[in-house]
Amino acid sequence: MIFVTGGAGFIGANFVLDWLDLQDEPVLTLDKLTYAGNRDNLASLDQDPRHTLVVGDIGDTALVRALLKLHRPRAILNFAAESHVDRSIYGPADFIQTNIVGTFHLLESVRAYWNELGGKERENFRFLHVSTDEVYGSLAPQDPAFSESTPYAPNSPYSASKAASDHLVRAWHHTYGLPVLTTNCSNNYGPYQFPEKLIPLILHQALADKPLPVYGDGQNVRDWLHVSDHASGIRRVLEAGRVGETYNIGGNSELANLTVVEALCDALDRHRPTAQGSRRRLIQFVTDRPGHDRRYAIDARKIRKELDWQPAHSFASGLEQTVRWYLDHQEWSERVLSGAYRSWLEQNYAERRQEA
Ligand code: NAD
Ligand code: DAU
Repeated sequence: MIFVTGGAGFIGANFVLDWLDLQDEPVLTLDKLTYAGNRDNLASLDQDPRHTLVVGDIGDTALVRALLKLHRPRAILNFAAESHVDRSIYGPADFIQTNIVGTFHLLESVRAYWNELGGKERENFRFLHVSTDEVYGSLAPQDPAFSESTPYAPNSPYSASKAASDHLVRAWHHTYGLPVLTTNCSNNYGPYQFPEKLIPLILHQALADKPLPVYGDGQNVRDWLHVSDHASGIRRVLEAGRVGETYNIGGNSELANLTVVEALCDALDRHRPTAQGSRRRLIQFVTDRPGHDRRYAIDARKIRKELDWQPAHSFASGLEQTVRWYLDHQEWSERVLSGAYRSWLEQNYAERRQEA
């Protein structure tokens, strides 16, 4: 069994769904179901005996220790985090709490569990921490892409909290010997992404014929990777990554935000033409994000050479699949935005927590 934290969020859910599509090893998911966690993402597994969802916090040591003792996972993959940069700017407290304090408590719970393992179980155990390229800061146009040896220089409360969590994970390996792996990935897109992030937000707005907010001059660059390619990279690192190492995962797909927004408008125009003409007319340049990092780019040579990983999607094919998914699942976005799943959370939180 593997233990996935944050598995009801965007990347975690895609990871869990792909994992159980590809193999039968069971998954235990722990998720707090914050605004970004959505039980709907895992609804297809509701009757699947290979999957268990527990609602709870990575920082709840009593709960996490009980789960570890009961289920005895061979690996923990930590996706749980507050993940949105804009929210971190307007309210950093939750980011400090979950990304730093939560990771600390999780590491301590896992260390206690690992210390009690013996023989092969102890030798083969892994703690894989999912992190971001934002810890490396911002690149100028002529700078080389981020490699695993690029110094950390986080600029937002979000990236600073992720950087702190990466350092904790590193320290728990160097000090206590915990067998950790860390991945630092570029911008993901694909199904089940909360519509606060650029691609699903633009799709949602454009379908509603509403303005498409582009921060600043629209020339900030991100390196886009389809979420299923991120999941396949994580599986490779879990399978064959060297303990204590970090691996950068990226799509070699650098694009300016304005180019991405225009590509989304054009794709929707092809699939759902409107009488008013091109959706590019909806683009509006708005006030920039404070401290907005100019450019991210990942040098993924290490994972490619050492672990023979590469992405399956080009940006064009991945974006086409993603646009089709959002068009076919508009009720998913509506439910997420209406907060319909929150009533489930309020009713079930205490009960599910006790069950665990
Ligand atoms: P997300 O916000 O969609 O999902 C996060 C999940 O974590 C949610 O289900 C939420 O309920 C859960 N969660 C939050 N706090 C928790 C807590 N205290 N205890 C248990 N669960 C909690 O985020 P995402 O985009 O899926 O990102 C997942 C991970 O990948 C994060 O660690 C993020 O930093 C990292 N990452 C994201 C991207 C990206 O482009 N989205 C890229 C690289 C790395
Ligand atoms: O690089 C990896 C990171 O990518 C992850 O660690 C984060 O969890 C994830 O949220 C993402 O961070 P970004 O800030 O890059 O993603 P976001 O979708 O918020 O924004 C992408 C770019 O688009 C960024 O330059 C800001 C810009 N933007 C965003 C929004 C929401 C706009 O121009 N308009 C918008 O409305």
